[in-house]
Amino acid sequence: MQPTVIAPSILSANFAKLGEEVDNVLAAGADWVHFDVMDNHYVPNLTIGPLVCEALRKHGVTAPIDVHLMVEPVDRIVPDFAKAGASLISFHPEASRHVHRTIQLIKASGCQAGLVLNPATPVEVLDYVLEELDLVLLMSVNPGFGGQGFIPSALDKLRVVRQRIDAVTARTGKAIRLEIDGGVKVDNIAEIAKAGADTFVAGSAIFGQPDYPAIVSAMKAAVAA
Ligand code: DX5
Ligand code: ZN
Repeated sequence: MQPTVIAPSILSANFAKLGEEVDNVLAAGADWVHFDVMDNHYVPNLTIGPLVCEALRKHGVTAPIDVHLMVEPVDRIVPDFAKAGASLISFHPEASRHVHRTIQLIKASGCQAGLVLNPATPVEVLDYVLEELDLVLLMSVNPGFGGQGFIPSALDKLRVVRQRIDAVTARTGKAIRLEIDGGVKVDNIAEIAKAGADTFVAGSAIFGQPDYPAIVSAMKAAVAA
């Protein structure tokens, strides 16, 4: 298992002072910045694009930026995010006609590649591509909005994908992260970690709360316990 990563989703941050919000959450001990990109087409919401990613880099953010694309089509925006400073780029297989090709495109652009499974997407979508991936992102809410409740069936799915990842790592030595996104809170993160996640996105549980360091520490402590 890889070291725990807490990746606050800036979807719940105060966009009027985004640079400061990101600085504060990283100073609080967060590891990555989770960057939710929504296009009002693949999902019914509209957020931020490569310009904002680039602005965070220019602002001085050096932590990994974990771009979660909820856009369709995927491929034409990948080079723009790579240029804008994305570290990892994840996409939904339903939004790409050629999943394997999109994974290769992300890697050729110099980023790590992730595939995102919606709550009802079968794990079989990982067949034939798992070894190509750097990260699997399981959605524990339907994509589009922050602040939704954790869907419990994601726990079983985590266990299944954890086994598959461990089998690949045992065979090839390749490390693949298992990330969970949606409804992650201080009081359920331990159970989610036990089911196999090593990378935790949390939006509303962190942003908008008064004490970022306390929440990030509580999350890390609960995972380590
Ligand atoms: C939903 C996004 C999530 C969301 C998580 O489509 O992918 O990253 O911001 O927010 P919370 O932690 O509030 O469920
Ligand atoms: Zn996300």
